[in-house]
Amino acid sequence: MCANPTPPQTAPAPQVVLRAEALAKVYRTGPVEVHALRGVDLALHQGELVVLLGASGSGKSTLLNILGGLDRPTSGQVWFGGQDLTHLSDAGLTRYRRDNVGFVFQFYNLVPSLTARENVGLVTEIAANPMPAEEALGWVGLTARMDHFPAELSGGEQQRVAIARAIAKRPGLLLCDEPTGALDSKTGITVLEALVRVNRELGASTVLITHNAAIQAIADRVITMADGRISGDTRNAHPVAPSKVSW
Ligand SMILES: Nc1ncnc2c1ncn2[C@@H]1O[C@H](COP(=O)(O)OP(=O)(O)OP(=O)(O)O)[C@@H](O)[C@H]1O
Ligand SMILES: [Mg+2]
Repeated sequence: MCANPTPPQTAPAPQVVLRAEALAKVYRTGPVEVHALRGVDLALHQGELVVLLGASGSGKSTLLNILGGLDRPTSGQVWFGGQDLTHLSDAGLTRYRRDNVGFVFQFYNLVPSLTARENVGLVTEIAANPMPAEEALGWVGLTARMDHFPAELSGGEQQRVAIARAIAKRPGLLLCDEPTGALDSKTGITVLEALVRVNRELGASTVLITHNAAIQAIADRVITMADGRISGDTRNAHPVAPSKVSW
């Protein structure tokens, strides 16, 4: 008689939160066609921090906008949980964005006549399960600046207000398109620190587009795009803190 063999110890497979299959996007302007995505397959996992790199025009923003329900692919599917986003009505897509997706863009798009707290409060009024604006601003280190207007805040602080606005709805997905693109490196690092903190501690699966290759060191996973396709997809065994990155 032989003893029962010990079952192999395998780590549980990470949960897929978003899956894209065979995504293509063609922009048509008059007779001109631009093939912005040419067959993208991608699975994003629970809680991971993905840095998306690639040359200008490679399709990064197009992909992010489709994953976030801001745009629709020409063909292919995007699954969020059991839901195929490509079959949703416009109202359904709006609901998907409102309930599940936080966006951060290069330009902060804050309302100038509202304080930081009021800018974040705009989102908490419409979200299903929001955190208080004060708590969201605490996550990004702006407790002391809540009653300032955007013009009274630095670029990095304004971007952190935009991050607070994005996370106040407790999104499953945080999609960031060049969030440090308009900032110097020191300020950019404070913004990355806020993003890493909310990714690690709130658990939002995060995709961060950047032109800056140095930033890939903070990621769990680095995806590279070239000419409308994914040309690289690697894991960082040891992501580093933003404070260790320089550019
Ligand atoms: N609304 C649009 N109409 C027509 N063409 C578009 C549109 N949006 C993007 N494109 C084209 O699609 C391609 C991919 O654009 P996209 O914005 O996704 O690239 P990107 O990788 O984000 O570039 P960048 O790093 O410069 O932001 C480019 O050739 C771009 O010119
Ligand atoms: Mg772009």
